[in-house]
Amino acid sequence: MEGKGIFITFEGLDGCGKSTQVRNTATFLRSKGCNVLEIRDPGSTTIGEAARAILLNREYTEMAPMTELLLFAVARSQLVSEIIKPALEKNMIVLSDRFYDSTTAYQGYGRKLDLNQVRQLNRIGAHGLVPDITFIFDIDPDMSVERMKQAGKSPDRMENEHNHFRERVRDGFLSIGRDEPDRCIILDGCESPDRISMTIQTILSVKNYV
Ligand SMILES: Nc1ncnc2c1ncn2[C@@H]1O[C@H](COP(=O)(O)OP(=O)(O)O)[C@@H](O)[C@H]1O
Ligand SMILES: [Mg+2]
Repeated sequence: MEGKGIFITFEGLDGCGKSTQVRNTATFLRSKGCNVLEIRDPGSTTIGEAARAILLNREYTEMAPMTELLLFAVARSQLVSEIIKPALEKNMIVLSDRFYDSTTAYQGYGRKLDLNQVRQLNRIGAHGLVPDITFIFDIDPDMSVERMKQAGKSPDRMENEHNHFRERVRDGFLSIGRDEPDRCIILDGCESPDRISMTIQTILSVKNYV
């Protein structure tokens, strides 16, 4: 339907290792001669980055949860139509740092918006596109805060939340992984980056993606 490309997404709490593993996976796939595109959601388009700036701005404390949900859908819609679909049609492997599972976890489980509405909007925003495989890195909220601190990152609006919010988001990711075991693979984000990369590489090889 989307050409012969492969769409891989990386999910989990802040600091769980998404960016690290997107980078390592891209390096691995390129070493095998694959044509790889790295993107982030929200972002990676002019319109998407503008929506991202609004979403992460700490001054916008008044943002309603539904507004947040819709803005993520806006950013994703542009990303899918402008970047992801054309890349898949060119047989590229697209690696996305977050995708709609983050919306389900944060806006659905975290903010407690109606899960059916969230899923409906996810489908609309993604133009029906479903990742071929999704890696979910599981860490606990304390580890998330600790790693962000260590990385010297000050919290944005989404990260400026309490640990019970992060706990709900974590449970959300785990529920998504359990609900869609054919697509999602839950990995222990506390293992070393190298070990996690090796597991990802093995899974991609077993699936004949490389
Ligand atoms: N498996 C891991 N074990 C220990 N530290 C890690 C691991 N993966 C990433 N890190 C470190 O944690 C911080 C956040 O990692 P990053 O990949 O940016 O996470 P994310 O993109 O999910 O926020 C970085 O300092 C990174 O070096
Ligand atoms: Mg990151």
